[in-house]
Parts: sequence; C-alpha cells; structure tokens
Amino acid sequence: MDRLDRLVSELQNEIDEKERAIYSARVLEQARNPTNLGRLEPADAHASYTGWCGDTMEVWIHLQGGAIRQASFMTDGCGPAVACGNMVTTLVVGMTPDEANQVQPQDVIRALDGLPEESAHCAELAVTTLRRALAGLQPRDAAAAQ
Ligand code: FES
Repeated sequence: MDRLDRLVSELQNEIDEKERAIYSARVLEQARNPTNLGRLEPADAHASYTGWCGDTMEVWIHLQGGAIRQASFMTDGCGPAVACGNMVTTLVVGMTPDEANQVQPQDVIRALDGLPEESAHCAELAVTTLRRALAGLQPRDAAAAQ
C-alpha cells in the first residue's frame, strides 16, 4: 500500500468512526445500501415533496389486492434522508393505504434504532412524501388494485 492509499484508508476509517459515533448501525446500513431506491413505474401513486431544509423526496407506490405491494423513493437529501426514505418504503409494504397513512416519523426513527435530533426532520420529509403519495391514490386506482 503506497502512502496515498494509506492516507485515503486512514481518512476513510476516521470518517467511518465519526459516522458510527453519530448514527446507528441501521441508519448507516440503510443509507449506504438502500434497497428501495429508484423509480417504480408504472405506479398507482407518486408524490414529490420538498421539505423546509430544501431537500426533495419522491415516493412511488404500487398496490395489489388492496395493500401496498411495493414502494420506492428517490431523494437529493442527506444520508439520513436516504435511510428514512428506505425505511418508510420498507415499513409500508403489506399495509393498506389507511394503515400506511398512520405511519409516523417516530415509527421510522424507531425502526432505524434512533436518529440524532437534528435529523428528525428527515423522517418527517419521508413520511410527508409518503402521505402525499397516498393522498394521490384515486378511488379508481384503489379499486383496480383490489
Ligand atoms: Fe434535508 Fe436531511 S437535511 S432531508
């Protein structure tokens, strides 16, 4: 390993250590390897929402048999926003739209084994975007997906 490689590796270790001190292992895992990232088309519902921090999230929902069969997201937000988007689109799979509407930012934060206070709004961004997508579900879409 040459000097530059060693320096990069040390730097990466330092960054990893700092992140582990701030975020739970679950947050880091969801932020680094999001399984629901990307467009879901055709979708039964889609919404895009920009939070007060200026970051935007999009959520897509696919229904089957009256329940959410698949959900996905995209965001230009921070790492915690990726973790929250991934977690909320994981939590709602198998739920009816009404049940998914009950999901709270705290549920997402709990499922992530916690978030620093300053990142709580990232969970709100994910949940608000989900709710906006659910609000866009047309009765016709819901019936067709039964
Ligand atoms: Fe904007 Fe996290 S800082 S979503």
